[in-house]
Amino acid sequence: MLTLAIIKPDALQARNAGKILAQLEAAGFVVRAARLVKLTTTQAEAFYEVHRARPFYRPLVTFMTSGPALVLALERDNAVAHLRDVIGATDPAEAKPGSVRKLYGASKERNAIHASDSPETAAREVAFFFAEGELRELG
Ligand code: CMP
Repeated sequence: MLTLAIIKPDALQARNAGKILAQLEAAGFVVRAARLVKLTTTQAEAFYEVHRARPFYRPLVTFMTSGPALVLALERDNAVAHLRDVIGATDPAEAKPGSVRKLYGASKERNAIHASDSPETAAREVAFFFAEGELRELG
């Protein structure tokens, strides 16, 4: 099963991307596709469309377009639930010890990494960034 992760601009800026990717690989995820992107405002707005009515939407779009981000299509069994477990709670202060957000996040907004929140969202989010032909074959 595939899920989408985005190592966010705060983590790239702090040069934590390599450590985060190593942690994801150690947790059993295989990178099927990866791209360094600088999201446009239109892309970030579309990606976070479900949050459009929330007070944090505009600052989130501004933050996500503030610098490069590393987008990853990740494979493992039960990928969505496992990735959410590895990254921890949205608020780094509440994330479990050793989780990516606890280790590298600074705030609810600057929380180092995004992960898809359901299998349906994962399918949409992977397709948002990657065409079928861009996914590396397993094996
Ligand atoms: P992410 O997994 O990228 O999905 C939506 C993002 O919105 C979330 O991580 C946070 O970065 C951000 N977010 C969610 N809730 C809040 C909040 N209360 N304040 C600021 N940002 C938030």
